[in-house]
Amino acid sequence: MWNRPRFDLKVRLTLRVAAITAACFAAISAYFLIAADRAVHARIDGIAAIVAKSLELQQGKIQWVAGPRDFPNLDPVAAYVMTPGLCLAFRGPSGEMLQRFCSGAPAPASPSPQIFAAFYRSLFDPGREAARPVVVRGAKLGETVVSVDPAVQTAEAWHEAGRLMIALAIALPLLCLLVYAALARALRPTRLIRTGLERIAANDLSARLPPFDLAELSAIRDGFNHLAESLDNALAERSELTRKLIALQDDERRHLARELHDEFGQSLAAIRALASSARQTAAQDCPALLGECDGIARTATSMMETLRGALFRLRPPDVEELGLVASLEGLVAGWNGRSRGETRFSIHFDGAFETLPAAISANLYRIVQEALTNAAKHAGATKVDLHLTMAADEIALAIDDDGRPSDASVKSGMGLLGMRERVAALRGRMSFEVGANGGSALRVVIPLTAAERQALEHAA
Ligand SMILES: Nc1ncnc2c1ncn2[C@@H]1O[C@H](COP(=O)(O)OP(=O)(O)OP(=O)(O)O)[C@@H](O)[C@H]1O
Ligand SMILES: [Mg+2]
Repeated sequence: MWNRPRFDLKVRLTLRVAAITAACFAAISAYFLIAADRAVHARIDGIAAIVAKSLELQQGKIQWVAGPRDFPNLDPVAAYVMTPGLCLAFRGPSGEMLQRFCSGAPAPASPSPQIFAAFYRSLFDPGREAARPVVVRGAKLGETVVSVDPAVQTAEAWHEAGRLMIALAIALPLLCLLVYAALARALRPTRLIRTGLERIAANDLSARLPPFDLAELSAIRDGFNHLAESLDNALAERSELTRKLIALQDDERRHLARELHDEFGQSLAAIRALASSARQTAAQDCPALLGECDGIARTATSMMETLRGALFRLRPPDVEELGLVASLEGLVAGWNGRSRGETRFSIHFDGAFETLPAAISANLYRIVQEALTNAAKHAGATKVDLHLTMAADEIALAIDDDGRPSDASVKSGMGLLGMRERVAALRGRMSFEVGANGGSALRVVIPLTAAERQALEHAA
């Protein structure tokens, strides 16, 4: 009755944690790349300032110490600041490059993929220049320009990002595994909750949940136990009420049967006796009245037969006295007689039922009586088959008809409810469903207690 889960909660939560972790890794990677880019620019900015200062000193020497007139000379400062991929240049006041040094860079061990290079270029603009003016006595002689080879900067960024990706590739599956295991452990009680719900759905209202550690699950447990208890009490009260109703109905039937038998039956017998005596008088004094007298006698006889049938239904034969088999055979024969061949009722016994306890026999009789009445009243069947089987520790009753199936939308009357109560009173189970042949199929199983089995074996 439960829907199959479309997605396991543990898998779903683990995937969410994995996605959040991957997003965190992406944010950390972005932070590292931004920080690295800023560090590169701070470095080349500093180098540009040093180179500009050094060129200003060179110019000072040329003017005051009459040094060599070799300006600009980037060699001396380049020896200190040069790193692989760095370019130093001096741009004259009119924008022309007067001198430029670039140090080569070894080919990176793992070159960055094209897609990463394009992505990095669009975000960070590698190869951006840092420029510082060279000013001597208020006159701008030009500017120093420092830049890093874009390929070198991209390769360094790829190296950083690659390390994070490796860390992510190792950490993510490990994290997923740990999260899944932790969730599986934390959600273990949900299996108990599900089992409890399944037991309630299967009418086992004694199902209760044990205490749980988690506050949320404990709240569910309290709600579940409270609900199960209320349901248990409500059903017990309903059963009690139905039992009382059935007892009342049985009492009422008995009372009605007695009244009909004692009052109506006696009156009919008297009418028939009077008709018979009137017939004798009419035969002597007034033969013309003979026909009317016979008519009264016939009507009284037919009313007595109808009354007998009604009394039989209202107050069935004493099952204990007749035995279950004979009582049920009589019941089936009665229905076969009444249906005049439209419906064929048949009954098969498998096992010895003569020594069944009275409570079981009487209830089985009433259950069969109601089932046959229902089949005749609602099914419009051509045949109704009954099977009563005695197994080692239970009695099984199966009643199948080939008529219209029961309409689920029709509200249940007292009959099915009464059957259920009788079955429940015998601690049995009952089902009423559409059978294999399209009609209704009633199944009743009544367990036998050890004492009942012993009594049966003893009698056998
Ligand atoms: N053998 C059957 N074939 C088809 N429908 C059935 C059969 N037995 C029961 N039903 C359906 O189930 C309903 C409930 O049956 P139930 O015996 O509880 O009430 P009822 O026969 O209508 O009234 P009551 O038994 O109280 O006189 C019926 O109204 C009928 O629609
Ligand atoms: Mg009925």
